[in-house]
Amino acid sequence: MIEFSHVYKYFKKDWAALEDISFKIQKGDFVFLTGVSGSGKSTLLKLIYMEEKPTKGEVFVDNLSSATIRKNDIPFLRRKIGVIFQDFKLLEDRNVYENIAFGLEVTGGSRRLVREKTLEILQKLRLGHRRNAFPYQLSGGEKQRVAIGRALVREPFILLADEPTGNIDPETSKDILKLMKDINAEGTAVLMATHDIDLVKGSGKRVLNLEHGKLMGDL
Ligand SMILES: Nc1ncnc2c1ncn2[C@@H]1O[C@H](COP(=O)(O)OP(=O)(O)O)[C@@H](O)[C@H]1O
Ligand SMILES: [Mg+2]
Repeated sequence: MIEFSHVYKYFKKDWAALEDISFKIQKGDFVFLTGVSGSGKSTLLKLIYMEEKPTKGEVFVDNLSSATIRKNDIPFLRRKIGVIFQDFKLLEDRNVYENIAFGLEVTGGSRRLVREKTLEILQKLRLGHRRNAFPYQLSGGEKQRVAIGRALVREPFILLADEPTGNIDPETSKDILKLMKDINAEGTAVLMATHDIDLVKGSGKRVLNLEHGKLMGDL
């Protein structure tokens, strides 16, 4: 469902941010993407949601290819992929309910469907009691749960997480990881970039490890 085939990304001449990357992620996988800051994790994720294109090689997402995808197809691709970030990227002038519903409104669902799905997600993410709160009133862990909710409401086949615990304390980070594992157990693939080795250690999950833009191990 996701395949990188000899992918290179150059932002400047003679220097590869990513070099000869090949791997596959299958339906329902849980995979960590590790590496120190600057090793290429965010760039690799951007190639999946096609904010960046490879300089060389090809990225396949479902039945779409980076080599042939048209600009008009990119919103369609993004509907199938959930993405969350270290800094949450919530809409500050909308409450929790509206932030989650927004994920569906942009896809043009009926009002009833939007409401049903949003309430279901609020419950699943234990956010029902916070539905009227605005982002500035939430803890870091709650903000990330809202971001996860906004991504999940569209029922993506994969959730991409770019350092989702980067702004969250260690205890809450474990809760977020547990939540991602629960989401995965229900069938959504997860690719989680992190430099937090403590989270990865002992998880028993597959690890793609980047060093200076090269894949140095697929454990
Ligand atoms: N748009 C860009 N223009 C130029 N250099 C970039 C750009 N995006 C990333 N880079 C460089 O590519 C390398 C990998 O960055 P990144 O993928 O953000 O790493 P990570 O997420 O692992 O910290 C870094 O050296 C970074 O400075
Ligand atoms: Mg990054």
